[in-house]
Amino acid sequence: MLIAQISDTHILAPDSEESSAALRADCLRCAVADVNAQRPDAVVFTGDTVQHGQPDEYARLRELLAPLEAPLYVVPGNRDDNDTLRAAFSDQRYLPASGDFLHYEIDEHDVRLVAIDSTASGERKGRFCSERQARLDAVLSEQPDRPTLLFIHHPPFDVGDHFVGGYRHTGERQALEEIVARHPQTVGLLCGHVHWLVEREWAGTQARIMPSIAVDVRRGIDENEAQGRPIYLLHRISAETGLVSETREVRA
Ligand SMILES: [Fe+2]
Repeated sequence: MLIAQISDTHILAPDSEESSAALRADCLRCAVADVNAQRPDAVVFTGDTVQHGQPDEYARLRELLAPLEAPLYVVPGNRDDNDTLRAAFSDQRYLPASGDFLHYEIDEHDVRLVAIDSTASGERKGRFCSERQARLDAVLSEQPDRPTLLFIHHPPFDVGDHFVGGYRHTGERQALEEIVARHPQTVGLLCGHVHWLVEREWAGTQARIMPSIAVDVRRGIDENEAQGRPIYLLHRISAETGLVSETREVRA
């Protein structure tokens, strides 16, 4: 199965006074065109879809995502607003119509996809409360023999000095690690939030953090100068190879 991952597009409203509005729209537009050319089976979006969680930003986002040909699955980031995101994607049946969390499972592909909501309203840091812990454990217990890919916005481990303590409570991210370690059918965990590529072994599986599509907020470059091209990840998953990830740098 071939899965494209996009993340951290931080889309702004078309009439925004922030100077990056047009640049970020161009980054996503070019990434979507390149994703279509790769013909993935599915696209997962690991959060921070927009900058301020506003309806006009989501309207712009939907416009930019409209050309995507593969099924798209979105999980929120700390920049998203769950209610506004839910309203903007209300035509997408995979999103729960009610409840505090935007988490769900997708069973229609060769690999089972499990979305984890790590956000809490008004909070930059990640959360994985007891309700979410119980739900994930139950979901992973349902199909123990089926290859399963998890995706979440906040990576549940430290990434350098800048992102130490990415969760409000260390115990919550430890709980996530313990739950995933108990379910060896997990082929990988895909994350966003950090805005740069990080790969590591974690909880007996592979974890990937994706660079931001928005080049002006990408970590590791001068924050006052947008540089480089949008980057996204293509993940190939098979029983023989497990998770094999490739970076795609696209022309913006
Ligand atoms: Fe972000």
